Amino acid sequence: MTHAYDNAVIGEGTTIEEDVRVGFRYHRDCGRAIIGQHGILRAGTLIYGDVTIGDYFQTGHYAVIRAKVRIGDYCTVCNHSTLEGLIRFGDGVRIMSHVYIPSRTWFGNHVFVGPGVTFLNARMPGREEVMTTPRGATIEDDVMIGGGCTILAGVTIGERSFIAAGAVVTKDIPPRSFVAGVPGKIQPLLAHLDRPNDRALTQQPRDLWHPDTPDLSALDWPADWMCRFEDA
Ligand SMILES: CC(C)(COP(=O)(O)OP(=O)(O)OC[C@H]1O[C@@H](n2cnc3c(N)ncnc32)[C@H](O)[C@@H]1OP(=O)(O)O)[C@@H](O)C(=O)NCCC(=O)NCCS
Repeated sequence: MTHAYDNAVIGEGTTIEEDVRVGFRYHRDCGRAIIGQHGILRAGTLIYGDVTIGDYFQTGHYAVIRAKVRIGDYCTVCNHSTLEGLIRFGDGVRIMSHVYIPSRTWFGNHVFVGPGVTFLNARMPGREEVMTTPRGATIEDDVMIGGGCTILAGVTIGERSFIAAGAVVTKDIPPRSFVAGVPGKIQPLLAHLDRPNDRALTQQPRDLWHPDTPDLSALDWPADWMCRFEDA
C-alpha cells in the first residue's frame, strides 16, 4: 500500500515525521514527488514536486530537495543540506550535514560526501560577456569527499578517488586519485585507500537515531569512553 499526499506518492514503510512537506507545488504545472519504500523523512524536510526517489531514502532535519531531482536507492541527505534541483544521484549516495549542491550536479553510485562540502556550478558568476548555463560537478562511482571541501564548477572527479578534508578541487581528477590541499594537489591513491567505498557505509537501511534501530545501547560510546561521557 502507498500513501497519497496531495502531490506525492509515498511507498509502503516510509515514515514521514511531522512538519514535512513533500510534493511542494513550485509551479502550477509541476508533477508529483514519488518516494520509494522503507524511507524516513525527518521533521523539517522539504521536497518539491517533480522529484523521484528510490527505496530506503533517509533525510535529516531541514533537508531541502528542489525540483527535477532523481535519486536512486539507499541514499541519505542529512541535516540542513540543500539540493538545488536538476540533480542526479545513483544508488548509495550519502550526503552528510550542511552540504550545498547546486543544479546540474551528477553523482554516480556509492559516493560519500562529508559534512560542510560546497559544490559550485558557475566559474565566474556575473562576470561573463555572455552568460553560460551553469554546470556543476560530475562525481563518479565510489568517490569519497572529506568534510569541508569545495568542488568547483564543471569538474569531474574520477571513480574511486579520495578527496582529503578541506581540499579545493579546481580541475578534473583522474580515476583513483588522492587529492589534498588548496588548490587540490593530485596524487595516485595509496594502496590502503585503493578500494571501493564500503557498502556497509553506503547502503545502510537505517541511519543514526533511526526509530527501527533494534538496540539503542549499540549507539552508545565505546565502553572505555563512557566514563568521559558520564563525567561531563
Ligand atoms: C587525508 C587523510 C585520509 C589522511 O589520513 P592519515 O593517513 O591518517 O594522515 P595523518 O593524520 O597521518 O597525516 C599525514 C600527513 O598528511 C597531512 N594531512 C592529513 N590530512 C590532511 C588533509 N585533509 N589535508 C592536507 N593535509 C593533510 C598531515 O598534516 C600529515 O602531514 P605531515 O606528514 O607533514 O605531518 C585524512 O586526514 C582525511 O582528510 N580524511 C578525510 C576525513 C573526513 O573528511 N571524513 C568525513 C566524515 S566524518
